[in-house]
Amino acid sequence: MDEYMRSGAFLTEFKKTQEFEKMLCDYTGAKHCIAVNNGTITLSLALIAVGVKPGDDVLVPDWTMVASPNSVKMIGANPVFVDIEPVTMCMDIDKMEAAITPKTKAVMFVQMNARCNDIERLVAICKARNVQLVEDSAQALGSFHKGTHLGLFGAVSSFSFSAPKIISTGQGGALLTNDDELASYIRKLKDFGRNGGGNDTHGVIGWNFKFTDMQGVVGIEQMKKLPWRVTRMRQIYQTYKKHLADVRQIEMNDHDDHEQGWIPWFIDIFVDDRDSLSRHLKSQGIGTRAVYPPIHQQEAYKERNNMRFPVTEYVSSRGLWLPSSSKLTDEEIKRVCDAIRAYYAAKDRTQGQQTVLVVGGAGYLGSATVMRLLKETNFKVKAFDALMYEGSSLFPFFAMKERFTFVKGDLRTVDFAQLLQGVDHVVNFCALVGEPICKKLPEEAVAINQEYNLKLADACEKHGVKRYVFSSTCSNYGTQEGLLTEEAQLQPISVYADTKVNSEKYLLNELPQLPVSVLRFSTAYGLAARVRFDLLLHEFIRDAWVDKEIKIFGADGWRPLCHVDDLARAVVTVFEQSASLPHKDVYNIGSNDQNVTKRMLGEMIAERTGCKLDIIGNKVKVDPRSYRVDFSKFEKATGFRARLRPVDAINDIVSGLETGAIGDKILYEAVNVPVNESVQEIAKAKLRELEGKSKL
Ligand SMILES: Cc1ncc(COP(=O)(O)O)c(C=O)c1O
Repeated sequence: MDEYMRSGAFLTEFKKTQEFEKMLCDYTGAKHCIAVNNGTITLSLALIAVGVKPGDDVLVPDWTMVASPNSVKMIGANPVFVDIEPVTMCMDIDKMEAAITPKTKAVMFVQMNARCNDIERLVAICKARNVQLVEDSAQALGSFHKGTHLGLFGAVSSFSFSAPKIISTGQGGALLTNDDELASYIRKLKDFGRNGGGNDTHGVIGWNFKFTDMQGVVGIEQMKKLPWRVTRMRQIYQTYKKHLADVRQIEMNDHDDHEQGWIPWFIDIFVDDRDSLSRHLKSQGIGTRAVYPPIHQQEAYKERNNMRFPVTEYVSSRGLWLPSSSKLTDEEIKRVCDAIRAYYAAKDRTQGQQTVLVVGGAGYLGSATVMRLLKETNFKVKAFDALMYEGSSLFPFFAMKERFTFVKGDLRTVDFAQLLQGVDHVVNFCALVGEPICKKLPEEAVAINQEYNLKLADACEKHGVKRYVFSSTCSNYGTQEGLLTEEAQLQPISVYADTKVNSEKYLLNELPQLPVSVLRFSTAYGLAARVRFDLLLHEFIRDAWVDKEIKIFGADGWRPLCHVDDLARAVVTVFEQSASLPHKDVYNIGSNDQNVTKRMLGEMIAERTGCKLDIIGNKVKVDPRSYRVDFSKFEKATGFRARLRPVDAINDIVSGLETGAIGDKILYEAVNVPVNESVQEIAKAKLRELEGKSKL
């Protein structure tokens, strides 16, 4: 810088900028490099240069830094989000191909953390479909794919030199291209559309996005360090990998094969308890950062908040960036890894010494929770169930002898002291679930769901359980307008909800020593070890499958839904975060974007099965329940977010039916009503009718 200042220091872009550009060309093998003032404007310029006009569509991955879609918006074009694929975490090429329409002018392919999937295929598709390819290589300087630097596959690519990048000029960016015409056009666009250096004739409209020689000087010095940083980043990744190799909870999504020449920009890991791990590391003085949230969930893209990009959602809910500076020493990396290992070792140790009692463990939610506890934690699990609907849901767990025990019994007769022996935590699902069975057996419903349920809670308080999770329901809200928080009035309009509301009151007010969490669950759906076909979504699928038509009454009534596996995960989250969760609190469990109307559900199923929808007017039959629920309290408290969506379960169940894995019998018999009741008769009649009938 000293030498530069003494030489007369031309401050706007000139010789030093050109030298910097040449160094980038030499390093990457590009024919042209055009430096500009940041790595966002590069993208807008690239799009303009390849001919994207206001109103055109540009395909952009849903998982990227927000600059990617915003650069499309900036020129009045429309970013169309595409899901990523789980291995490279770049745009899913099949989904990209399916998303191309006559309005699609370009694809913006982002090399997230310098990863890159089958880019040759991507190039071929873009060529065949006459779509321009712009690479957002902001995170990819130093990375090659089969010998070619990333950014040299499409028409033009974009790099960023902002502070955290592998080289930085404070702010700054550059475009690379092998196309002479594009290069000359971009040079004009960034310099007021000037026809040539120094003159004031303007052939095209352009702006001022110029670099400065001051940045050029910094860039030149940074480029000298690039080869060392590239080597060091690879070593840093390998050091992390070595120290974390045997931590079963961590995925690293490795792309470290030499053919690819991947140089990670940041070290990213993927874990189920990202927020809690991050908090622990912070307490040890180690800073981390959650990876980017899905773009479609940003408030800035409000109108797309209800869209679905399952892979992006999954990846971004689990990803954590670890300290990644090229200046990190091996000792510092080891300290970070030791802190991570200590966190998981302590968690395993604590959980290994504790037992969770799952009351109603053979049921729909119960067996899903047992599955989650055994699979994702180190807790021991004791399941208790009367086996009203038999016990096949428990079969897979018996093999895990060291961690699983089962007690058969009825809540009304079991010896609580014996049941609670060795138990630390309790989740209580035991109930006659749903209105049909409660209406049929009202006395039993009150006895099981309320009276004996609360006797068990009394016993748990005496026993000193560390956490008592009570399974309640969002249907407690009855019919109300607006998005209902936990503070909303309860308006139970069924025997079932009555028993739940009464129990909640008792648990929250009458047992001062019981550390209770009341979870108000959304209506569950999805396959689990015990299947139920008397749930809203499942009944609709059955109708679509058997009758090829869904009759919907109260079609515009709202209902919050949540996948059974996500509900189970929420319970596990409570136990895992028990130390930091307040007692005597109530949480709605579900997902704000899964408040759906029955009409919406019907439409989703119709799209998958081709069935007809018969919307029955409210005059004929009214659904007394309609409620939309706010689930943000639990998310704020624990970081929990639902991962699965109705469309996932629809696909699973319809595939199950198509392949025969779900037999006709289950469609009618997997229901919460006592054996030999009238529904069973209807089922038999339906099954007889079904014989020989062809399916959808
Ligand atoms: C993928 C991606 N695109 C674009 C940008 C924007 O670059 P800049 O900050 O230089 O505008 C970034 C910056 O982090 C990025 O990661």
